[in-house]
Amino acid sequence: MGRGGACGVASLFLAVAAAACCAAAAQEPNTDAYFVARFYAKMGLAAPPSGAGAVCSWPGVSCDGEGRVLALAAAGMGLSGPIPEDTVGKLARLRSLDLSANRLTALPNDLWELGASLQSLNLSRNAIRGALPNNVGNFARLQVLDVSHNAFSGALPPALGSIAGLQVLNASHNQFQGQVPGAGGSLVSMDLSGNALDGDLPDLSPLRSLAYLNLSGNQLRGSIIGAFQEQLGVIDLSNNRFSRLNFSSGYSGTSLMYLDLSSNELLGEFGLPGRFRNLRHMNLAFNQLSTNNLLASIGEISSLEYVNLSSTGLHERIPGALSSRLVGLHVLDLSQDSSLVESRLL
Ligand SMILES: *[C@@H]1O[C@H](CO)[C@@H](O)[C@H](O)[C@H]1NC(C)=O
Ligand SMILES: *[C@@H]1O[C@H](CO)[C@@H](O)[C@H](O)[C@H]1NC(C)=O
Ligand SMILES: *[C@@H]1O[C@H](CO)[C@@H](O)[C@H](O)[C@H]1NC(C)=O
Ligand SMILES: *[C@@H]1O[C@H](CO)[C@@H](O)[C@H](O)[C@H]1NC(C)=O
Ligand SMILES: *[C@@H]1O[C@H](CO)[C@@H](O)[C@H](O)[C@H]1NC(C)=O
Repeated sequence: MGRGGACGVASLFLAVAAAACCAAAAQEPNTDAYFVARFYAKMGLAAPPSGAGAVCSWPGVSCDGEGRVLALAAAGMGLSGPIPEDTVGKLARLRSLDLSANRLTALPNDLWELGASLQSLNLSRNAIRGALPNNVGNFARLQVLDVSHNAFSGALPPALGSIAGLQVLNASHNQFQGQVPGAGGSLVSMDLSGNALDGDLPDLSPLRSLAYLNLSGNQLRGSIIGAFQEQLGVIDLSNNRFSRLNFSSGYSGTSLMYLDLSSNELLGEFGLPGRFRNLRHMNLAFNQLSTNNLLASIGEISSLEYVNLSSTGLHERIPGALSSRLVGLHVLDLSQDSSLVESRLL
């Protein structure tokens, strides 16, 4: 017993020493150094120079005090093809993985084993195809997920809603279909623009920290009332098929600085009075809003810098006092015919 224990300690010591001593030599199997070396080799990255020391000093690698890999960054390295099994997915303490801006085409099955540790995953600007599996819900500690600018398709996984600490979700510029998923209550930024999402907005009221919402360039329908949450600073719902515009009576929009509802099918009255005290950018172009008294009431929002009411069905004279009240206004677009780009620069 005693001898066996001593032997185990000795071989563990040897394994650590081997991993630490010769980076370029064959790595002790099933160590972090082995999995990183295998990733480098399989992706055609230059092997770490011989004598470079432990895996922790290799390019893009950072470690904890025990020499275990915490972060791996290989953005813009020209990596192509599928991410191999038994590489990054086996780095059991990995917190941050950045493989953005390459030409990767598929995820390994063992990626989802990283669940216990991963906090940030950036796969943006690759060519990854197929579904984003519901296994993403394994990443219980995930805070940042950027899968933007890929070729993902199918539904956004419902399990995204179960990741309680997720703060940044960027799935823009893919071919995701189906509904906007519910999301965990910590979300600060949600960018799902440039996909093929349809259906109604989900209930966003549980997202008490959401400050940035971009759903531009989808096929979303119905009412936009759900998007007007008090704490939001940026709302971009442009280029969809929303048809109903309405505010809950208590909504003041005091945090809102940027609002783009352009190119929807919105009908009805846009009720500004008393709202949007800090709004700078307002684009309502290409809708069928009845904007009676809108110009008079925007005069009360002295923070406005950009107002675009092009092709909204506006029938109103420009109040003479407008430009003296909106001293910060740079752009006022009131052109009513898309062939007539008559933007007024004040
Ligand atoms: C992910 O990487 C891309 C490209 O390298 C970068 O532009 C983007 O800001 C990163 N995403 C996050 C959430 O940091
Ligand atoms: C995705 O969105 C996040 C949060 O807004 C941002 O930090 C990141 O840069 C975006 N990614 C890209 C590739 O632009
Ligand atoms: C929303 O996303 C679209 C498409 O990705 C982009 O062009 C637009 O600038 C974004 N809006 C804001 C307010 O960031
Ligand atoms: C607008 O919202 C108010 C309050 O939520 C509601 O009473 C009213 O029926 C809504 N109007 C439309 C046209 O949806
Ligand atoms: C107003 O918005 C429309 C639709 O987004 C756009 O085509 C047009 O260029 C905008 N006008 C100005 C002056 O920005």
